[in-house]
Amino acid sequence: MKSSKRDWITQRDGYGESPLVQETKVTRLCKTQTVMTVNGQLPGPTLEVNNGDSLVINVVNRAKDNVTIHWHGVRQITTAWADGPEFITQCPIRPGGSYTYRFTISGQEGTLWWHAHSSWVRATVYGALVIRPKLGDSYPFPKPTRDSVVILGEWWNANPLDVIRQAMRTGGAPNISDAYTINGQPGDLYNCSSKETTIVPVDSGETNLIRVINSALNQQLFVSIANHKLTVVGADASYVKPFTTNVLMLGPGQTTDVLITADQPPARYYIAARAYASAQGAPFDNTTTTAILEYKTAPCPAKGVASKPMLPSLPAFNDTATATAFTSSFRSPKKVEVPTDIDENLFITAGLGLNQCPPTAPASTCQAPNNTRFTASMNNVSFALPSNFSVLQAHHHGVPGVFTTDFPAKPPVAFDYTGNVSRSLWQPIRGTKVYPLKFGAKVQIVLQGTSIFTAENHPIHLHGYDFYILAEGFGNFNPATDTSKFNLVDPPLRNTASLPVNGWAVIRFVADNPGAWIMHCHLDVHIGWGLATVFLVDDGIGEMEMLQQPPADLPVC
Ligand code: C2O
Repeated sequence: MKSSKRDWITQRDGYGESPLVQETKVTRLCKTQTVMTVNGQLPGPTLEVNNGDSLVINVVNRAKDNVTIHWHGVRQITTAWADGPEFITQCPIRPGGSYTYRFTISGQEGTLWWHAHSSWVRATVYGALVIRPKLGDSYPFPKPTRDSVVILGEWWNANPLDVIRQAMRTGGAPNISDAYTINGQPGDLYNCSSKETTIVPVDSGETNLIRVINSALNQQLFVSIANHKLTVVGADASYVKPFTTNVLMLGPGQTTDVLITADQPPARYYIAARAYASAQGAPFDNTTTTAILEYKTAPCPAKGVASKPMLPSLPAFNDTATATAFTSSFRSPKKVEVPTDIDENLFITAGLGLNQCPPTAPASTCQAPNNTRFTASMNNVSFALPSNFSVLQAHHHGVPGVFTTDFPAKPPVAFDYTGNVSRSLWQPIRGTKVYPLKFGAKVQIVLQGTSIFTAENHPIHLHGYDFYILAEGFGNFNPATDTSKFNLVDPPLRNTASLPVNGWAVIRFVADNPGAWIMHCHLDVHIGWGLATVFLVDDGIGEMEMLQQPPADLPVC
């Protein structure tokens, strides 16, 4: 993918040109939709920076709906105002409005991405954020000859905002997508899309870096490249101990950097992605997106002769064993300092639910199973976004009544989380409950999936932090036996954890970044239902420990 840094940033540490959020007619699968884009591009421009760069990005909203931009995985140390989630750190940028995000990339190298953080706008407003080492620094592996972005997306033959609005009205699950995409293109296996298939170039003998990003809205994806081994060297803008695999699995929000060596006969090979769908019986988009890894010296396909690239073999959609083998292969490159002497030990359930409809509600608004509406929660709280202030603005200005600080440190009732859960526990309470953390607190969170309605894998993303993943497993977390499985030596550092289906994962971090930080399932369908909570982290005392003053152009509600 060509460098498009100039689309956004004209100079380092300086003012840049404005990304324009606009309504754009986009044609995919032979159908044209009007969707929101940045600069008319889908995906939006790749932002290419170096570790240590300060960015100044003035986002202008010329579209008809609200927008905010989140810099997924950027730590935003003392700059929570630039994080982006709507009603958490800022009010939305209204149509006609603008907001300048100012932040510094510090101590992060690899691949992150940016996306809208407002309703389902991110379905079409997203792009890669490539972070190279500081000028003069090198990669911890031989310098790749070239690097390419493979950003996975999801496409509806509809305006995605209409898809979610309809689901919110009916209470049922939103329609599944019509295609997955690689760099915005569904690829050869869909009707009338083959002309536009993404080409990833290679030359025989070279070793290239491929930056894979799952920006799909609602689906974990397996990814593979025919006949080529993938050496994983990074994830979520942290390096990892290299390991080799044939298949990747990324939840939405996750990135994986891989090296591939062009050691096969010069030809064209498919890069393919399709669903890892862990929820039993739930409908999902069962299609396969492809791009083409093309050797420069590949013989041109003779006219009229079909010369199909070879397809990689991808795991079955429900192959949890392969997904788990992959996610548990990650290690930090060397011994790391894992927080010990934990100050805050939280146990947080994550799962779905069903709300009973009041008898007077029209059936058309209760389209989830048995006349209910879908919901989701953490520790039985279904997170409701505020609408008149962002959590951070309310906190900063001391505005009462926007949120409460009583998010529970453990589920209000203990139960067999992954067993046959009593119906009386299927209906969470709605609230804007946050969990306060003292600056510098050492935090452990046991994330526990539930089987309420249906168990499934949840990509759990925490804003403002990277965390170590100490262990993961299936069933109910058992401190007596599972603590011994913790990797306290070289656990991977990530911003999005794959919470196994009907299982648990344990993460740790030090709360050294003041602000209001949302932690949520990165399946957008689940965020809308409330699968989220917010950590409110105090100021410390040093300059790099205090939240900066809010920017003058911070949108108000
Ligand atoms: Cu990439 Cu809150 O999200």
